[in-house]
Amino acid sequence: MHSIPLQRLNPAIRLVVRGFGSSEQEVEAVASNLIEANLTGHDSHGIGMLPPYVEAFLQGGLKPNAHVSTVLDGGTLLRLDGNAGFGQVIGHEAMDLAIGRARQHGSCIVALGNAHHLGRIGAWAEQAAAAGLVSLHLVNVVSRAIVAPHGGADARFGTNPFCAGVPLAGRPPVILDFATSVIAQGKTRVAHNKGELIAEGCLIDDQGRASREPRFTVVPPFGALLTFGAHKGYGLALMCELLGGALAAGMTTRDDDTSKRRILNGMFSVLLDPQALGDRAAFEAEAMAFLKWVQASPPREGFDGPVQVAGDAERASKALRSAEGVPVDRTTWTAILAAADKLGVGARRVDEAAGRA
Ligand SMILES: NC(=O)c1ccc[n+]([C@@H]2O[C@H](COP(=O)([O-])OP(=O)(O)OC[C@H]3O[C@@H](n4cnc5c(N)ncnc54)[C@H](O)[C@@H]3O)[C@@H](O)[C@H]2O)c1
Repeated sequence: MHSIPLQRLNPAIRLVVRGFGSSEQEVEAVASNLIEANLTGHDSHGIGMLPPYVEAFLQGGLKPNAHVSTVLDGGTLLRLDGNAGFGQVIGHEAMDLAIGRARQHGSCIVALGNAHHLGRIGAWAEQAAAAGLVSLHLVNVVSRAIVAPHGGADARFGTNPFCAGVPLAGRPPVILDFATSVIAQGKTRVAHNKGELIAEGCLIDDQGRASREPRFTVVPPFGALLTFGAHKGYGLALMCELLGGALAAGMTTRDDDTSKRRILNGMFSVLLDPQALGDRAAFEAEAMAFLKWVQASPPREGFDGPVQVAGDAERASKALRSAEGVPVDRTTWTAILAAADKLGVGARRVDEAAGRA
């Protein structure tokens, strides 16, 4: 494990992304989104995604320089196609369109299909929050199934994330953003790369038995991750598949097209301007008072520090890692260098840019 300072990581990752033949704007969008995921503490959705992106690109599952197209424009209802483009670009463009409509009409529902991996979904709630909008996002993942249904012994769907964002004057937005599996799949990849075991209760092996070995979600024979909160997390994952997948994307994990490697996301989003419901100031005053009340709960034994609110952990991690650099384990870095080589970028140049050669 070593830390790469931001001023080194930024040019090194941009160098790799240029290898996709991306426009400079796309290079900026992809690199900054991935690095932001690392900064906020979600290494599972950071620069370690570059090797699977390269595989998807080489097999035709990811299309650089693609943009969102509007399939249906119902004013406050948008159906969008991501054309298998980089989720970092597609997600931003989709939110831009939806933000414009929600500002104009007070709300907007967006059905986005066929986006390549949208990364950390919190980024899209943050974009809406920066425009003063509340948002909800239910997302499905069309790739190899990796999560078992509650009571099932094999994988039937993806780690289907749920996310909600609430902007409030006088404090950073509340951003709740998580996978509906006990842990995100990328976290098992990170653990596998580090040679660590996973906590109990997160996964099952290829026979449906409880296991702590991350390999069962990384290399065959595959087992499955479990959903969080037993039937409750499973129920939320199901809704992500029904709304993000069947409704928004017209595509569920059942379609299991393994002809090429790719990670497609479908996303059902709702954006709302609190002012459109009447009184933004009253809503914010009530919300702030409630957060104060909740956080006044005395810390329980076994927890260090005061009660947190969703979004706090990411901001704390970002402050720390911006100052101290982003920790990257050797296996992940080696895989990034190998991926750069496959793009014809040259591993040595990337290593040099990162200050490691
Ligand atoms: N694009 C995709 O296909 C895909 C699929 C799955 C997950 N993801 C992303 O993976 C990322 C990681 O997901 P995860 O499930 O590992 O997240 P996680 O388990 O780390 O949970 C993160 C959420 O919990 C909040 N939180 C953390 N500690 C808290 C505390 N002590 N008190 C209150 N709130 C707290 C955070 O602020 C955040 O909202 C997310 O950004 C998600 O969008 C993406």
